Amino acid sequence: MELRRFSVFWCRTILFGSVLLQEAESYIVKLSRLCKFCDVRATSCMGVKSCKVECGITSICPDKQDVCVSIWRKMDDNITFDTFCHNPAHMLHGLVLEDHNNSKCEMKEVKGRGSQFFICSCSEDECNENIFFSSTLDSQVVEIILVSLVPLLVMAVIVITSFYCYRVYRQRKASSRCKRGPPDFSDARAIIIDDEGSDSSSTHANNLNHNMELLPIELDVLVGKGRFAEVYKAKLKQGCSVSEEQGFETVAIKIFPYEEYASWKNEKEIFSDADLRHDNVLHFLTAEERKVQRQYWLITAYHPRGNLQEFLIHHVISWHDLWMLGRSLALGVAHLHSDHTTCGRYKVAIAHRDIKSSNILVKNDLTCCLCDFGLALRLDNTLSVDELANSGQVGTARYMAPEVLESRINLENIESFKQADVYSMALVLWEIISRCNAIGEVKEYEPPFGNLRENPCVESMKDSVLRDRGRPEIPNSWINHTGIQVVCASIDECWDHDPEARLTAQCVAERFYDMEYLDKLSGRSDSEEKLPEEISTGDKK
Ligand code: ADE
Repeated sequence: MELRRFSVFWCRTILFGSVLLQEAESYIVKLSRLCKFCDVRATSCMGVKSCKVECGITSICPDKQDVCVSIWRKMDDNITFDTFCHNPAHMLHGLVLEDHNNSKCEMKEVKGRGSQFFICSCSEDECNENIFFSSTLDSQVVEIILVSLVPLLVMAVIVITSFYCYRVYRQRKASSRCKRGPPDFSDARAIIIDDEGSDSSSTHANNLNHNMELLPIELDVLVGKGRFAEVYKAKLKQGCSVSEEQGFETVAIKIFPYEEYASWKNEKEIFSDADLRHDNVLHFLTAEERKVQRQYWLITAYHPRGNLQEFLIHHVISWHDLWMLGRSLALGVAHLHSDHTTCGRYKVAIAHRDIKSSNILVKNDLTCCLCDFGLALRLDNTLSVDELANSGQVGTARYMAPEVLESRINLENIESFKQADVYSMALVLWEIISRCNAIGEVKEYEPPFGNLRENPCVESMKDSVLRDRGRPEIPNSWINHTGIQVVCASIDECWDHDPEARLTAQCVAERFYDMEYLDKLSGRSDSEEKLPEEISTGDKK
């Protein structure tokens, strides 16, 4: 009996102890929250960064589940804070308090309340006293930035797209003016060059004097002087292989002093491409190093009529001469720029980069041939970074295209070098017309921009060509002649300020071909001043 009493006593003691423990536990976990509780109060808080609610009342929340809540509202100029307790299991103003487990009260904006409405909840004592608007502010800033930037971005996209479309339109217009489908290599009018049938392995091998034996040459008179070299008329002595095989007796020797090795090497390398050979490109024979005289030589065909500038100074020409000179000049430049030969084989495109009337020779048949390739550039993918970097501004200031004067040529696009050549070619075509008797009264020869001093510098050319957008004058009297009118229209398109809008040299050549009927119609009157008989026997080609 005693034993039973003893065990009942211990059971009761243990039971009572565990009930006490449970009560204590629930007392610790479920302590009622202390929150700021002022209901609605006016505030000076502007809803930026952080604020302290101006509420002096701290309440023990009625329900143990309650958390602290703050609401910030702005209606017109009336700004208020609501502070109170709320059980997050229930909706508040139609909202679920998702942030009630936070230790800090971080405001979130609720839209569509007819006023600015921010709410936060948190579950630490008096945590609704210090309010943070940081994230809201960020989103406001982002919103403001977006609202102000989006119209600007849209405008920029519209402007860039319109500009791009305009450029594409101009480019298409420029190329459509001459589009005739793929080149027709069987065209009887196409230039016949004597490399037909030679295989492409001949590239770089032709014309070089490999046996190291110097040609027997007798220098005659000085016929030209350039920046890097002098040109002599010369005689190939009897029995020489070049003389016998290629029919040359009189040749031109371009002599570079040792110091101008780079220029000689560049010109030699350009000439050494067999595919460069063309009726309208100076015929190259060979290159030599003359150690004794410390000179480098380039040996080429000799053209007794000399350069085009000299020729125009001394001759007034007919429409037929103009047509011959202009057409052959365009053909020469087109061949240089082309990446295929007249028989369709691949060749490297070349930019001349110093096209001017004194770098063009006049052949006996009154056609032009391009010479002086000292600054020429092979437009292939072997171009080194250095070569490209040094290609910004070369040539003769008077003939430099606007983008070259500005050193703003697009070095990444090989077409830009061709476009700069086309600009210079347009100035030469203008010089040719200025000496043609079909324009009416013919004045003394003047170079393009002749009002400028002898060798204008880049800065004076910038003033004329860039600042004033000046070009040589095309008087009204010039366009009375149908053919000259067409040439002037082409010139105008070739010296366009926008390189992309310029015609290609091939296109100009085709326009000359289209005028062949005019040439046939016009009575041919050759250039007015004749050269002495003696000098017309140089090139037997
Ligand atoms: N001047 C420069 N090169 C010439 C050449 N090959 N023939 C005649 N005169 C020139």
